[in-house]
Amino acid sequence: MNQNEAAAPCRTLAIVKPDAVAAGHTGAIVGMIEQNGFAIRAMSMTRLSVAQARAFYAVHAERPFYDSLVEFMTSGPVVVATLERDDAVAAWRRLMGATNPAEAEAGTVRARFGSSIERNSTHGSDSPENAAAEVGFFFSAADLL
Ligand code: CMP
Repeated sequence: MNQNEAAAPCRTLAIVKPDAVAAGHTGAIVGMIEQNGFAIRAMSMTRLSVAQARAFYAVHAERPFYDSLVEFMTSGPVVVATLERDDAVAAWRRLMGATNPAEAEAGTVRARFGSSIERNSTHGSDSPENAAAEVGFFFSAADLL
């Protein structure tokens, strides 16, 4: 474990998904992130390969939506970012809102920009342990500024 991973409890991984990038919502979402006290330690636009998407979402491999999720996540560019804040994992999940945009509180990212449970605009790590793994999936220690 390197120094940056040791600080992982204060970091989380955010993904602006292909639906939100294609619709031109990246700037608005990054603005919400900054306005809510997160420091962006790394950010990159990329297009996931099928192998990357399958590996990233491996925990969902047995779920009925897995193949569709992988197809969607590889359908266009995404923006991946490492966010830092106190209680970053929970704070980013609160700001995103419920997984299903129809159930997300008004004003949250998914309520504003998501259109279905799959096309829900953003991803966030669900625990500090997974945050460390997900940050490491996309970024090396030297990328984290
Ligand atoms: P995310 O936070 O990226 O984590 C896993 C993703 O799977 C989730 O957001 C949704 O986009 C997707 N997902 C979760 N549940 C369902 C479902 N019931 N049907 C389709 N997609 C789902």
